[in-house]
Amino acid sequence: MCGIIGYIGKQNAPNILLKGLSKLEYRGYDSSGIAIISKNDINIIKSKGKLINLKEKLKNNKINSKLGIGHTRWATHGVPSDINAHPHLSQNKQIAIVHNGIIENYLSLKEELELKGYHFISDTDSEIIANMLEYYKEENFLNTINKTISRLEGSYALLIINKDDPNKLFAIRNESPLIIGINNEEYFIASDIPAILEWTKNIYYLNNKEVAILKVNSINFFNNKKEAVIKKISKITWDYEVAKKNGYEHFMLKEIFEQPNAVKDTIKLRIKNGLPNLDIKLTEKYLNVIDKIYIVACGTAYHAGLNAKNLIENLIGINAEADIASEFRYRNPLINKKTLVIILSQSGETADTLAALRLAKEKGAKVISIVNVVGSSIARESDEVIYTWAGPEIAVASTKAFTTQLSVIYLLVIQLALLTKKIAEKEAKSLIKEVKSIPKKIESILKEKSKIKEIAKFFYHDKDAYYIGRGRDYYIAMEGSLKLKEISYIHAEAYAAGELKHGTIALIEDNTLVVAVCSIEKLLPKMISNIKEIEARGAKTLVITNSKEKIGTYNFIIPEINNYFTSILTVIPLQLLAYYIANYKKIDLDKPKNLAKSVTVE
Ligand code: G6P
Repeated sequence: MCGIIGYIGKQNAPNILLKGLSKLEYRGYDSSGIAIISKNDINIIKSKGKLINLKEKLKNNKINSKLGIGHTRWATHGVPSDINAHPHLSQNKQIAIVHNGIIENYLSLKEELELKGYHFISDTDSEIIANMLEYYKEENFLNTINKTISRLEGSYALLIINKDDPNKLFAIRNESPLIIGINNEEYFIASDIPAILEWTKNIYYLNNKEVAILKVNSINFFNNKKEAVIKKISKITWDYEVAKKNGYEHFMLKEIFEQPNAVKDTIKLRIKNGLPNLDIKLTEKYLNVIDKIYIVACGTAYHAGLNAKNLIENLIGINAEADIASEFRYRNPLINKKTLVIILSQSGETADTLAALRLAKEKGAKVISIVNVVGSSIARESDEVIYTWAGPEIAVASTKAFTTQLSVIYLLVIQLALLTKKIAEKEAKSLIKEVKSIPKKIESILKEKSKIKEIAKFFYHDKDAYYIGRGRDYYIAMEGSLKLKEISYIHAEAYAAGELKHGTIALIEDNTLVVAVCSIEKLLPKMISNIKEIEARGAKTLVITNSKEKIGTYNFIIPEINNYFTSILTVIPLQLLAYYIANYKKIDLDKPKNLAKSVTVE
């Protein structure tokens, strides 16, 4: 998704903007650009394609400026092109903006402005903002901004520069993230923390429709009634080092290998005397009233949600449903005060997930979120938040966010089962002992990476792959197949193993790759039958299992662990498989085509 960076200070703005933009590349983009103010003039340089094209254009550009805005665009309205790239200028070339989000009423606003004589050069919704600002321009630019945003419907994070106010940078957001970092006399504004982590860890969070006016040495905030707002600085705990590759070929591989520590960090301070000790205010009385739990998320986080559903039903005995946020929000789910909603999100900014959270709260449900980014919109709007302490996840394909989400789910489910007396303390302690063993077991799987690398060699030319499993193993099959298609572009589908016979088996031919996840003891005989059926039709199988039997053509054995927690181990070889297949195919797998790390529009 689009990324924003802004700078005002004593350094040369183009250098800072380019550095910031390179930190935003991981979000996914197809063009980029910057606007700087120099000698009371606005200079815009932008380019289709990778950042290298923009750098090339800037190579011979020696403009010195202390103030500027930059953008990486992920096309929504209009194809990727130099013209559609941000920043956008107003018609009189006095005002430049960068915009993240979508202006939903842009067509009617565009018509209105066209009737007033404005001409548009791009296909974007964003260009109307620049012209709207020009149209409403008055001496007090805060009035101009407020008048403009009162006309906008949709989501936006906006940075604005204005030729008539050449020493100021204006920032405003609504439903799209924007943070302001401060370091002595400099300000760094960005849509995402990693973009500014190199320079500062002290940040301000902007609330919806708050305007920040930045000058060298001063920052002022105003609400939408133009009243001054006093804000506190928040401290980011992430290290800049964590947002670097540190010798790994890709962020994805680095993040796969960070999982033992990420899981350890996420659980260690939340276990006390052998029992889970999450800081949440759910009482036994409240839980006894709850008759339904929804777990809502998108993408990889949804697969963690499916695991949560399964464990809640098995260990707590409350009716639970996992739902895709974009479906949940529009299907009128039956929610009331007796509903608990658990929201899962790495970024804490996914537009559909945030909308689902709001819907749940509106209908009276309590919302607990499991989020990685501290201070993100989902974290701030939930009744309770439990952070996954995974550190920044840069690769588009999510790995450590998933396993830390599972770790939190394990602790949460055990804690709630204990609270509702569904399990005794002794059982809780023995389950926690298993959870504590996870980091070491992940480590031992990672030590066998070369086995998976070897297997990947046989399949990277394939066009299709099928993933099967039953129960929780099916959810990991879904996650494994998502990983493969995300970064290797191989068509991959996941099926509940018992469902294969009802159609999909027709697609199995000689040498088709079928990955089978079978880690649940009571389902093993059923899985073996399914595997034999497909092998009989020519498929080559890779079986991820805890059984010592040689079940498939290739077998990868995970360490022993209580059956409730096998998912956090079976997923690791599947992450590695996708990684090595994509790497053999020489794909730029940290930034796969068409994908975005954080999906902040619908
Ligand atoms: C995007 C990412 C996925 C992620 C999903 C949900 O599609 O590419 O990796 O799982 O969004 O993101 P969230 O930040 O809400 O977990």
